[in-house]
Amino acid sequence: MDVIAGPAAQTPSLARNIEMQESLMENSIPGGPRTNRRRVHVLTWGCQMNVYDSTRMVEAIAPLGFSETENPAEADLVILNTCHIREHATEKVFSELGRLRLYKEARARKGNRMILALAGCVAQAEGEQILARAPYVDLIVGPQSYHYLPGLVLRAQKGETGIVATDFPPESKFSYLPPKETEANHRKISAFLSIQEGCDKFCSFCVVPYTRGAEYSRSAAEILAEARTLLAHGAREIVLLGQNVNAWHGEGLDGRTWKLGRLIRALAELPGLVRLRYTTSHPRDMDADLISAHAEVGVLTPFLHLPVQSGSDRILSAMNRRHSRADYLRLVERIRKSRPDIALSSDFIVGYPGETDADFEDTLSLIRSVGFAQGYAFKFSPRPGTPAANAAAQTPEDVKNLRLKQLQAVLREQQHAFAGSCVGRVLPVLFTDKGRHPGQILGRTPYMQPVHVTGPTTYIGAEVSVRIEHVHPNSLSGVVVNTSSS
Ligand code: SAH
Ligand code: SF4
Ligand code: F3S
Repeated sequence: MDVIAGPAAQTPSLARNIEMQESLMENSIPGGPRTNRRRVHVLTWGCQMNVYDSTRMVEAIAPLGFSETENPAEADLVILNTCHIREHATEKVFSELGRLRLYKEARARKGNRMILALAGCVAQAEGEQILARAPYVDLIVGPQSYHYLPGLVLRAQKGETGIVATDFPPESKFSYLPPKETEANHRKISAFLSIQEGCDKFCSFCVVPYTRGAEYSRSAAEILAEARTLLAHGAREIVLLGQNVNAWHGEGLDGRTWKLGRLIRALAELPGLVRLRYTTSHPRDMDADLISAHAEVGVLTPFLHLPVQSGSDRILSAMNRRHSRADYLRLVERIRKSRPDIALSSDFIVGYPGETDADFEDTLSLIRSVGFAQGYAFKFSPRPGTPAANAAAQTPEDVKNLRLKQLQAVLREQQHAFAGSCVGRVLPVLFTDKGRHPGQILGRTPYMQPVHVTGPTTYIGAEVSVRIEHVHPNSLSGVVVNTSSS
């Protein structure tokens, strides 16, 4: 899976696509004859990988003359980058499509066209079925086909409708979507960098292996080059992304296969990097070298999102998680031994088919024994095509609701207790933005808690020591105690 497809692996349609892009670029480069200026409006749902992909899609169509707009009414192209993880997420997409249809019709009345494109995991999972439900969608493109986007948009601009590109191409989109020095890449203090895509784990509730396809790892050289570009444009924190990020095993700089711990050590050498994080991890792939990286690599934040899903062995086994409750607890112990101040966060599913009160109690007790700084609880949502969707013993909705409330209350309590334990401590805060009130700036602790202080905007982009003074519902506040920054 580490092989990056070279030009020989190009499919004829990809070659055609690139040819089209090149001829268009000749017409749109500064100084050359200009194509019409066009506007694209992008809406993004789902995980951070979708946020990253949206940036790359905007970069990919920039040579066609597209720049971003916040206003859908003036958009020549609207891209919905969608999520299929739970039913709720999918339904939001369809209600948004209904709203955008009105804009599309209003533009048509004035003689203007709006191309409506559906990307992301709903596009991949539902493909042509979307056209039956929403025939006004012009273009459907799956997450592994974004390098085809310029050619697909061009076809839509020529009047074609009902375009579907959801086959998994043999080549990697990353090889054909080099990061460009566009506005989208600029001025991000905290920048995402996808290093891995897809998943081979097949947890029985999850759509990701079907929507993103098989596991794929980018090479270390490619990742380091992109990290350098991000740092050159002002990034100070890099967040390594993957649906199963710690399963990353890419070609290293020495031609051998590297694992994530090794990659982290190489990235940590880059000048200008203040913080490094990675998400989302699977407990099975936390190997010894990665765990020791937490002790040895200074820029690696003491925060780890490590979804467990359930505290019951019976349910974990039904979920095909391939780790037990005891495995998880042992792992937490090893991680904390390596980095004692690490803060942990996790995901939990309530109401998995067959979950009894006793199983649910096991989840609560696991949470109490670990002590999470943050946690996300979800009601089990049967996803079409996944094994768990067809299980006979579905949990009634009222039971799911009750368990969700109970679990969220415990998580809130733990989050609040952790925040309280930070009061009085001096923590390094990486400032990223202006606050809502004049004179206020916003940043994050190493444990990912948002912090606001009164301070100059010159701190934005720097890590500054802050004494934490107050806990607010979703943030902390404090005072700067020292102006030396890294
Ligand atoms: N790659 C990540 C998961 C990404 S999905 C991992 O392996 O942990 C984010 C979270 O959504 C999951 O951790 C899970 O808690 C939740 N989730 C996924 N499928 C779900 C479903 N069918 N119903 C409810 N929650 C689900
Ligand atoms: Fe989904 Fe994560 Fe399981 Fe993969 S490891 S199937 S992404 S929950
Ligand atoms: Fe959603 Fe796809 Fe991400 S289903 S969570 S957008 S991988």
